[in-house]
Amino acid sequence: MRIVSGIQPTGNLHLGNYLGAIRNWVKMQDDVAAGGGQSLYFLADLHAISMPHNPAELRENTLEMTAALVACGINPDKSILFNQAQVSQHAELQWLLSGTARMGWLNRMTQWKDKAGKNREGQSVALFTYPVLQAADVLLYQASHVPVGEDQKQHLELARDIAQKFNNDFASDDAPVFTLPDPIIPPEAARIMSLRDGSAKMSKSDPSDMSRINLTDDADTIMQKVKKAKTDPEPLPSDKGGLEGRAEAANLVGIYAAMSGESQDAVLARFGGEGFGKFKPALGELLVESLAPINARFIELRQDREALDAILAKGALKARELAAPTLAATYAALGLVRG
Ligand code: TYM
Repeated sequence: MRIVSGIQPTGNLHLGNYLGAIRNWVKMQDDVAAGGGQSLYFLADLHAISMPHNPAELRENTLEMTAALVACGINPDKSILFNQAQVSQHAELQWLLSGTARMGWLNRMTQWKDKAGKNREGQSVALFTYPVLQAADVLLYQASHVPVGEDQKQHLELARDIAQKFNNDFASDDAPVFTLPDPIIPPEAARIMSLRDGSAKMSKSDPSDMSRINLTDDADTIMQKVKKAKTDPEPLPSDKGGLEGRAEAANLVGIYAAMSGESQDAVLARFGGEGFGKFKPALGELLVESLAPINARFIELRQDREALDAILAKGALKARELAAPTLAATYAALGLVRG
């Protein structure tokens, strides 16, 4: 097994990132190491320049996100933890795959449509070709599995399409250049929604900080955000079926279940018939209790810039080594002479 996944170092790590992806990264790093495989986790800083950004903030956020990942349990001795910008093969492979990716495929990406909105002409070329870089991120390492939240599923399907077309066009059936990666999406936390709007995903780019729980929020802030979360006036149902058509209630129950490791039915067996006046404080306490150790580790790690830089440098060294054979095979398959 070779696991690869990334996160953009823009803004804070929030509960959606944690339950949708990072918690799975942590769980998988031990299993993968025990099986003799490898896990590579990276800060997608090259992706972050597809939107307007402040260079000084990007640098700080990259270190901050590194601290957050280690605080969540990513162990740099077990996993390869690095930032894309230190591994130039990502950008190189993106260009090589750009000859294979089709405009029509990229035009269908929902994230492109959402982020570009009505102003496609005014967007950066990077925002449009972003999924090709994402394909390069995983194909470069022959990833077998990619743990992500549901919003990244379409990008992963594109990576498979690119790999398949490249193999068909430039490699023989018995010696493909790229492995087709499979997504791993946690069913119980595939899509954590905004606390203010049950139809929008919890996101770093939401202008309202009240819409998300950040892993760096203190206990009071977490309790406050949960208390103010949008709900409906009905009591909770006693099983999952009763959450149909109640997006906000379903989201809060889903968060509780994902965090406590129970099924939604088990949570509702306890809270069914109760109002949110009882459920919200219980959810807030569960979140505070679960996130407090992460928060404390984060504050400690964040202060040691040198240690964070060293983690990223060490990870990049290993990543560059693992990336080299696939990049060389790609150049060769395309007939490019490298001296
Ligand atoms: P990003 O930085 O938006 O999110 C990082 C991870 O968190 C998951 N996630 C969520 N899961 C459940 N509910 C939510 N509300 C939620 N919000 C975010 C995402 O699915 C993701 O797994 N393009 C990627 C980064 C990337 C990448 C890659 C991922 C770059 N290259 C290669 C995998 C493989 C992104 O912007 O994720």
